[in-house]
Amino acid sequence: MCGISGIVHSENFGRSLLNSIKNLEYRGYDSCGVAVIQNGKIDLRKNIGGIDDVNLKERLDQMQGKIGIAHTRWATHGGVTQENAHPHLSANRKFAVVHNGIISNYQQLRERLLSEGVCFDSLTDTEVFVNLLEKSYTESNDLEQAFLAALQQIEGSFSIVMLSSHDPENLYCVKKESPLLLGLGEGCNYVGSDINAFLEYTRKAIVLDEGEYVILGPNEYQVRSLKTGKKLKKNVLHIDWDVETSKKGGFSHYMLKEIFDEPQTVRQAMQIPKEQIVALAEMFADSSRSYMMGVGTTYYVASISQYYFSALAECYYSALSSDEFSVVDIKQGDMVLAISQSGETYDTKTALVYAKECGAKTAAIVNVMGSAISMMADQVIMQGSGPEICVVSTKAALAQTFIMVRVALELGLIRRKIKQKDYKKFQNEMQEFSEIIEIVLNEQSGFVRNIARDTSHVEHWLFLGCGVYYPVAMESALKMKEVTYQHAEGMPAGFLKHGTLSMVESALHTLFFVPPPEQKELHKRTLIAMEQVKSRGGTVIAIIFQGDELAQKLAFQSINLPVVSSLFAPLLQMIIAQMFAYYAALDLGRNIDKPRNLGKSVTVG
Ligand code: G6P
Repeated sequence: MCGISGIVHSENFGRSLLNSIKNLEYRGYDSCGVAVIQNGKIDLRKNIGGIDDVNLKERLDQMQGKIGIAHTRWATHGGVTQENAHPHLSANRKFAVVHNGIISNYQQLRERLLSEGVCFDSLTDTEVFVNLLEKSYTESNDLEQAFLAALQQIEGSFSIVMLSSHDPENLYCVKKESPLLLGLGEGCNYVGSDINAFLEYTRKAIVLDEGEYVILGPNEYQVRSLKTGKKLKKNVLHIDWDVETSKKGGFSHYMLKEIFDEPQTVRQAMQIPKEQIVALAEMFADSSRSYMMGVGTTYYVASISQYYFSALAECYYSALSSDEFSVVDIKQGDMVLAISQSGETYDTKTALVYAKECGAKTAAIVNVMGSAISMMADQVIMQGSGPEICVVSTKAALAQTFIMVRVALELGLIRRKIKQKDYKKFQNEMQEFSEIIEIVLNEQSGFVRNIARDTSHVEHWLFLGCGVYYPVAMESALKMKEVTYQHAEGMPAGFLKHGTLSMVESALHTLFFVPPPEQKELHKRTLIAMEQVKSRGGTVIAIIFQGDELAQKLAFQSINLPVVSSLFAPLLQMIIAQMFAYYAALDLGRNIDKPRNLGKSVTVG
């Protein structure tokens, strides 16, 4: 999971290429590099570290030329070293390649090339490919033929962009399983592993499909099928994301900025046409068995949704982590919904392929236009949350959950489980929700920051909730782990007494997600667990709703939220927990937007 970018003919060339990989940095950030053609030769600069660090060392922004490729890497095969960073050069330095994905047969190919006398600088599969190119070119003396001949020899999943001093006018690109898109400008074209690579320069994009390759020049492009060699006609998409949304806008981190984007994200989710929401609800209603899946945060979005479907439509659907999905016996007539911000996550994509192969109907909620999952599913809802740059998902997850509430409501109506008058009431509450979020963000952030600062030293947390507040607690614990690197475990509050209570002592902190008192049963069960912790000397922090004196008494510290409808109380707590994790990570000096060992879209298994 890395970022690829290529530009053919741009003004201010080095700066443009650098910006473009900076906009992809959330995909990988342990090393990066740029290769350009200058005076007929390939100039390559690469190093380990984040893009700003590498730029300081290598002055990538000052590279001159008209055609070039760039890459930001998140190591999967081969350690983080300068040699392993992309782009990779062939032995004669006439070919440079950037690559995402895995060439599965590279060991055999490497041995063959070694026996033919080729020397390698790195341990990567990519360097094998670039040397295959050089060999093929010696045989055919034709760049397109050499590209195709080298591709024929490799197996696996990959997207590749090749630059060669034999053709200083064109980039050669191919897509197999790993995403690749073209951006069309005026006298200047782009290629990238996602639209953020060129969103600053153009809104016109082409999504490459499986097994397609492209020769990309400054004014023209030719997309062909690898299999047949036939020229293909492609749709040009207009990307309506606002470029400003992908900027930090005065916030110190994207994570905070994206949390503050949430009112807008909810408004956008509200604007998704009702027909699309109803169509998805009908798909659930018409299927013999329905499943929802995602991974990481989106798995928790699916888990939270389970409770809404149950409460509003009296339906129970399984929520599964995509990486576990293959154990389910899917049959024709079943329905599978995938939830994915990036639309590229390997585990979710693979699960969706499996569901399709089994004959299930498929649907998806996705944020990134043109992404693999958005192209694969039978029915797609584009959530329209705008670019989410911080690795940990905040605004996208909230929007997905909100959309699922809308679907559950429509399903409740279809199944006659909610009355028209209640439906109307819920609709009104939905309309008002974005304003409530705005108020809460503005009023509570200082307070949340203080508690997060006071407790940032805590190494072990239990996040506890009942009913729908349980998956909210799970998601919030994941957020905490992702961004602070501290241990946080989410658990049903009632489960605590069945074992984990043995860990409770003053150093162990608990964060309780307390429902509004009107949710009597859930509230009572949560307070029982709070008492269990308190009476054993554990520290209780609680997110509660104003007027809940019983909960306030039990808590050592509490965050008091304005009273909202029970429909949205869990979502409001989810936002507070995102802020809590953010401020704790800030106090700990963590790399908030790019936490260690994580990537925004994990496109490998
Ligand atoms: C990675 C990220 C998680 C994210 C998950 C799902 O594991 O580190 O933060 O929740 O992918 O991503 P998706 O793009 O499919 O929603």
